[in-house]
Amino acid sequence: MAGVRIDASGEAVDEVAIDEQLRRDVREGLSAQRKSLPSKWFYDARGSELFERITALPEYYPTRAEREILVREAHAIAATTGARTLVELGAGSSEKTRVLLDGLVRHGTVRQFVPQDVSGSALTAAAEAISTDYPDLDVRGVVGDFTENLAELPGTSPRLVVFLGGTIGNFLPADRVRFLRSVRGVLEPGEWLLLGTDLVKDPATLVRAYDDAEGVTAEFNRNVLAVLATRLDADVDPADFDHVAVWDAEQEWIEMRLRARRDLVVRIPGADLEVRFARGEDVRTEISAKFRPERVRTELAEAGFALEHWWTDEAGRFGLSLAQAT
Ligand code: AVJ
Repeated sequence: MAGVRIDASGEAVDEVAIDEQLRRDVREGLSAQRKSLPSKWFYDARGSELFERITALPEYYPTRAEREILVREAHAIAATTGARTLVELGAGSSEKTRVLLDGLVRHGTVRQFVPQDVSGSALTAAAEAISTDYPDLDVRGVVGDFTENLAELPGTSPRLVVFLGGTIGNFLPADRVRFLRSVRGVLEPGEWLLLGTDLVKDPATLVRAYDDAEGVTAEFNRNVLAVLATRLDADVDPADFDHVAVWDAEQEWIEMRLRARRDLVVRIPGADLEVRFARGEDVRTEISAKFRPERVRTELAEAGFALEHWWTDEAGRFGLSLAQAT
C-alpha cells in the first residue's frame, strides 16, 4: 500500500514549538559573551535549497565521497542488517538514501521508510518523491528536531537508523555522545545504526569545502539571518556580515562564523532582544567536526553500539560506520 503520511497534527504543534525553541536559542546565543547560533536554523526552505547546491560544488567533497561508499556497500548493508524499517534522521532531500533504498528493496526485506527532518518543506517534497518512486514502500515522514523527537520513531524491527552526511559533526562533543545514546535508547539490541562521518584531512581542503569560490556557502551561512528576519522580525541586513570558515586544529572541527562588517545594533522583536555587534565581531553559526576512525569506534562503543563495518571512499576522505546496538 503506497502513501505518504506526514505527521499533520505533529507539524502544527511543531511550528509553535519550533518558534519557541528558536526564540530561546537566539536569546541565549546572541546575549552570550561569545555569540553563537545553533546550525540547525540554517534549514528553512531556502537554506535547504542552498545546502543542496553546496552538495554539487566542486569543493564540497563529503556528499560525493559518502555516495561512493553507499553505491559500493548498499548490498552489504542490506544483507548484514536485513532491515524492515529504514529511519533517516536529518533526511533533507533523501537523495543519497535512494542508493540505500535500492539495495534494501533488492534484498527484499524493507517495508517502511521513515524520514525525519527539521525542514517541513524539504521533508514533504522528499517523502512524496520517494513514495512515488517506491510504490510498495510505506513512507511516513516526521517533521521535527531529531535531538528531541527520537522517542517517537515508528517502525517494525529490525530497524536501521541512518544519520548521513557527517551531520553528527554539527554537535559539540558532549552533545554528540548524548545524541548517540538517545538513538541507542530507542533501538532494541541487534538493531542498526549507519553513521556518516567526515574525516580529518589537510586543512586547506577542509577550508575550501566550507568557503567555496562561487560563494554558495557564504549565502547559506547568511541565510540564518534571513531566518531571524522572517521568524522573529529581526531588522538585520545579511550584507552587514562576512562569511568566515576556519579550521580549529585543536578541536579538529571547521567553524563557520558571521563577522560584522561595522558596528551594528540588531533589533529582534520576536525574541524581545537588541543585540550590539562591534565591527569585526563574530557569531559562530556552525561547527563541523572531522573524525579519526578510532574516535568514531570509541564514541559508538560508549553509546552502546558495536562497530561491525567501517568503510571509506577510495580517497579516504569520508567514513561510513555500520554499528549494532548491543
Ligand atoms: C549537512 C551538516 C553535514 O557540516 O558539512 C555544508 C552542512 N555547512 N557547508 C556540514 C554544511 C556548510 C553540512 N552538514
